[in-house]
Amino acid sequence: MVAQPLEELLLQDLLEESERTLTTSGVWSPRADAEALAAHVLGVPAGALDTGRAVPGDAVRELRALVARRAARIPLGHLTGRARLGGIEVTVTEDVFVPRFPTERLLAWGLSALAGTRAPVVVDLCTGSAALALALAHARPDAEVHAVDLDPAALACARGNAADRAAAGDTPVTVHAGDVGDPGLLAHLDGRADLVLANPPYVPVGTKLLPEWGEHHPRQAIFGGTDGLDVIRKVVGRAARLLRPGGALAIEHGDAQIDVLPVLLAASGAFDDAEGHRDQEDRPRYTTTFRKAVA
Ligand SMILES: C[S@@+](CC[C@H](N)C(=O)[O-])C[C@H]1O[C@@H](n2cnc3c(N)ncnc32)[C@H](O)[C@@H]1O
Repeated sequence: MVAQPLEELLLQDLLEESERTLTTSGVWSPRADAEALAAHVLGVPAGALDTGRAVPGDAVRELRALVARRAARIPLGHLTGRARLGGIEVTVTEDVFVPRFPTERLLAWGLSALAGTRAPVVVDLCTGSAALALALAHARPDAEVHAVDLDPAALACARGNAADRAAAGDTPVTVHAGDVGDPGLLAHLDGRADLVLANPPYVPVGTKLLPEWGEHHPRQAIFGGTDGLDVIRKVVGRAARLLRPGGALAIEHGDAQIDVLPVLLAASGAFDDAEGHRDQEDRPRYTTTFRKAVA
């Protein structure tokens, strides 16, 4: 049987059809996702879609296939293969965490903590695609930035992104394979880091999540043991060793962990009083502190 060629459709009609499909499947931002997927297929920036244009049949077919996958709750970033953080764009493969908008706040805090420090040493623990480390290096070309992850898929993605950003002119970031809990990890930087950032897995095992995170992300990027704090505890211990006296630490976490982080940090004996921060939606999202001069 010979496949019939698809007819052209007006982008406006196609977007409305896509939005309806995504709304029915429970996607929380159906119009924005429909536009992002259309822009991806048509090769234009999302803000530059001409809704009055005709979309050729092969592009209609491609967009409908992507919308069907998004309706199955595959994350948008896994469909476009791209994500933005801190003014840069990175590649995200389907087996790697898609950087999230709230992490912009953590990045901004980290950059403000480095104001006045020349040639800072920065470590991004649990780096995933390395978006956070690369955005930091983009904003601070004088920084020596190290990024760590234990997942081979994340490391491959991070190394690809690091090579791309270096080729684009940013200061190269060094990507390390390692477990944050390994006592020998980055031992050559002990006591030298000016800033440690971490967006670790922090969801308690068994938590019911939206399918985007519960089903379509690697488990080790999302879940942090029974109380969600397994990797956070390791981050606290590693940061205590890496940071110089006065060095800054910022850890992203879940809403309910805002009261636990200060307790963990205080128990380590290595940090000043912690401060909790909220994200753009006013949800508790990350905690910061500074390394004490003497533990
Ligand atoms: C929530 S994702 C964050 C990725 C990235 N920082 C971001 O914001 O887009 C957490 C990452 O931590 C990594 N990870 C989990 N446990 C780890 C450990 N013990 N040591 C190092 N990396 C770990 C996962 O592989 C995953 O890439």
